[in-house]
Amino acid sequence: MSSKDPLVIFTPSGKRGRFAAGTPVLTAARQLGVDLDSVCGGRGICSKCQITPAFGDFPKHGVTVAPDALSGWNAVEARYDEKRGLKPGRRLGCQAQILSDVVIDVPPESQVHRQVVRKAATERVIEADPATRLYLVDVAEPDMHEPSGDLQRLRAALKLTWGVKAPDVPLPLIARLQPALRKGNWQVTLAVHQPHDGPARLIDIWPGFFEGPLLGLAVDLGSTTIAGHLCDLSDGRVLASAGVMNPQIRFGEDLMSRVSYAMMNAGGAAEMTGAVRAALNDLARQTIADAGADPRSVVETVFVCNPVMHHLLLGIDPVELGQAPFALASSDSVSLAAAELGMDAVNPQARTYILPCIAGHVGADAAAVALAEAPGAREELSLVIDVGTNAEILLGNSSRVLACSSPTGPAFEGAQISSGQRAAPGAIERIRIDPATKEPRFQVIGCDLWSDAPGFADATATTGITGICGSGIIEAVAEMRMAGLVDASGLIGSAAQTGTPRSEPEGRTHAYLIHDGSPGGGPRISVTQGDIRAIQLAKSALYAGARLLMDEFGIDTVDRVVLAGAFGAHISPKHAMVLGMIPDVPLGAVTAAGNAAGTGARIALLNRAARSEIETTVRTITKVETAIEPRFQEHFVAANALPHATAPFSELRKVAPLPEVSFNTGGDPADGGRRRRRRRG
Ligand code: FES
Repeated sequence: MSSKDPLVIFTPSGKRGRFAAGTPVLTAARQLGVDLDSVCGGRGICSKCQITPAFGDFPKHGVTVAPDALSGWNAVEARYDEKRGLKPGRRLGCQAQILSDVVIDVPPESQVHRQVVRKAATERVIEADPATRLYLVDVAEPDMHEPSGDLQRLRAALKLTWGVKAPDVPLPLIARLQPALRKGNWQVTLAVHQPHDGPARLIDIWPGFFEGPLLGLAVDLGSTTIAGHLCDLSDGRVLASAGVMNPQIRFGEDLMSRVSYAMMNAGGAAEMTGAVRAALNDLARQTIADAGADPRSVVETVFVCNPVMHHLLLGIDPVELGQAPFALASSDSVSLAAAELGMDAVNPQARTYILPCIAGHVGADAAAVALAEAPGAREELSLVIDVGTNAEILLGNSSRVLACSSPTGPAFEGAQISSGQRAAPGAIERIRIDPATKEPRFQVIGCDLWSDAPGFADATATTGITGICGSGIIEAVAEMRMAGLVDASGLIGSAAQTGTPRSEPEGRTHAYLIHDGSPGGGPRISVTQGDIRAIQLAKSALYAGARLLMDEFGIDTVDRVVLAGAFGAHISPKHAMVLGMIPDVPLGAVTAAGNAAGTGARIALLNRAARSEIETTVRTITKVETAIEPRFQEHFVAANALPHATAPFSELRKVAPLPEVSFNTGGDPADGGRRRRRRRG
């Protein structure tokens, strides 16, 4: 190129260079390393290479662009416009040739590494750079005088056109190669998987041009619930989401009881493996049907899970995870064929990636939270808590990051709660109790009205009021504490002590009635003493885990708390703090991050570099083992009170009333003869 050649400037990258007149825009973009997409390699078929030329004066770039800076609209573009429509001002980069100085904008949808903006409150942006992409290739026809296999010529074409070197080709695809090539008249579209850690691999083949889409399924495989998002790999859009209960619950509600089941029953681990794999296939089928997608288009799956789920999913007996030193069979990330996990609801050649585990009790789900929330990328000290049956807790800043896992049990997800249910229409999710009258008002999922608003009964007529979900029970117990219905030790007062007939005797303890649906044949929904105890155990485990990490870090306060988890977004920070679920911080320092583990799975699905990143990051995270740490027990006991036996919670007291009531009459046998607790102002 010479200084007389036309100058081309690409925006938004700002990349510029001179090219001989007549050079296609796509060629110039490639030579400059501009991110301009193409599946067909410039044949005018895929329309991925769309660009918008800009005309006029550009003092910033020092050029003036003439109206005829690009060659005229050609037949290929006209045909495409007629059939599919090109937006005004758009050109196909492979067809438009540069004739004189020009400024060319690459719109976001034409960028290969386009940014996927997350809906959640955090500002993290995901760059789409999926491992599996489509390539259109023209394969040389066979020649009797130069004999070679169709596969060898296909590989040569892929290398020549796209620089993709010798992909592995599974036998079933070799068997489909010849008909596809002949049907496509020696032109085929290939889905090629190029992972961050291994050789390229052919995933599928279509005769002629196949437009896509290619899809991927990101799954957060929890002990109680399994949540999946079906995403378009090219732009990260979530096409469908679904959640199912983990069927392994029938073998044990928490992880250790599942490990025991595997230990006590011959073939128990295999039984649980079969159950979870079947559920994953159901989840895949459901999201694929909801999105109206073709199962064949689902070419990638990513799973994040705790270590026990990780082993059971992979068909590895988790027995070693049930006893110290909690050795993982393998802590590295896993890349394998989805079919090896029995995933038959997706493309038969689809690939699976499972994030690395951090340690025996700190799994790929914690790694996913670290990927999504990146506490190590900030100066402030962040405490990230992913609330679930097992809580994943990370504490750190740019100097170091610590992680632990705490066995909270399923109470926060509405299990083991007398009126508990999963978050579904009809479940109470919000509740307020008037501190003067002790009367409750509430909202149920599926209805925006509060229960004391006109029209509530009609609006909930179809769903009914069926129970109370995880976030509902947290609010209920916290509201009971603020209204003086429950004392700091967790005891529910009697009707005489609290002044409300809603405190009903239940055996030797009391229960607070929230809603009585029995006249209409519905349930009586109340919070029992047993429910409060279950919540106290769960929240003590959560707090103790967080506190243990703070000890390890040598600090007493954190700068910010991020509440994540399937229902993390629905927990009110104030109520969480009244319960003492999290250490005391100003309310404004608590944010919700939605399902951070699920977001981490989605990031790993969409971006190859993120897989390398998290594999490096987990090696730098310090694991703290709660199960063998004596201070965990001390913190756990002190955290049993609401909000805490010894920590002052002075920030909380600025915003929430914590009445000094005590309902311990000294000898209540149902209370196990608990000592009167010291409470603070
Ligand atoms: S590169 Fe495919 S249409 Fe231009």
